[in-house]
Amino acid sequence: MGKDKLRRFAAIKLFENVIEAEPGVAFSMKGSWKKTFFKNNNPIVLELGCGKGEYSLGLAKHFPNKNFIGVDLKGNRIYIGAKEALALNMKNVAFLRTRIDFITDYFSENEVDEIWLTFSDPQKKKPRKRLTSSLFIERYRHILKPNGIIHLKTDSDLLFEFTLNEIKENNYQCKEFTWDLYNDLTENIDLSTKEILGIKTHYEKLFTDLGFAIKYCKFQIN
Ligand SMILES: C[S@@+](CC[C@H](N)C(=O)[O-])C[C@H]1O[C@@H](n2cnc3c(N)ncnc32)[C@H](O)[C@@H]1O
Repeated sequence: MGKDKLRRFAAIKLFENVIEAEPGVAFSMKGSWKKTFFKNNNPIVLELGCGKGEYSLGLAKHFPNKNFIGVDLKGNRIYIGAKEALALNMKNVAFLRTRIDFITDYFSENEVDEIWLTFSDPQKKKPRKRLTSSLFIERYRHILKPNGIIHLKTDSDLLFEFTLNEIKENNYQCKEFTWDLYNDLTENIDLSTKEILGIKTHYEKLFTDLGFAIKYCKFQIN
């Protein structure tokens, strides 16, 4: 492992805005993120597979009265967003380093208001591992409030088509979808929505530069 990775792994252990969780080990914050960590009663929004956390930070700046938690397995990526949040003294953003597969171990029923999936791995050969597969959606169902929204932003036709099919087959309620987000973000759309949907992650920039259209949908699962 590279020296820089090791340095970042060591650094996040000391960051007050990063929590590292081990599967199978009891997690004391489950059910009390607002009271214990954020010390407020504001809604909780998750970014699953957050990478460097650009969306968590971007949304947290836009919505100071909501709490944002970026979740990812890769500590060296989380390090980037966590470091910036600390430098900006942002109290409404945190990072949880763990596998999303065990998300129900870290949040209790109805604890989460909204979920963002940003440029999730399309998992070409393993549909069950896709973050919008019914396996994962059932996990989200345990922790999301009734009417909680799930957002997906992706470059991947495969993942987007799969997700739209899942929405249809499982009778989730699709609130919005577009196969070409930036083409559809016309003047008629309000500035706040434009700003929110226009936040660009590391992977979004990579795929946009390669000429991929960015797809977006939001849906409810109850
Ligand atoms: C393609 S990257 C996108 C990162 C970021 N959202 C972006 O847009 O730049 C996918 C991220 O999801 C994380 N990831 C994928 N499956 C995961 C899982 N089951 N548990 C935790 N993290 C996962 C990876 O570690 C990776 O950082």
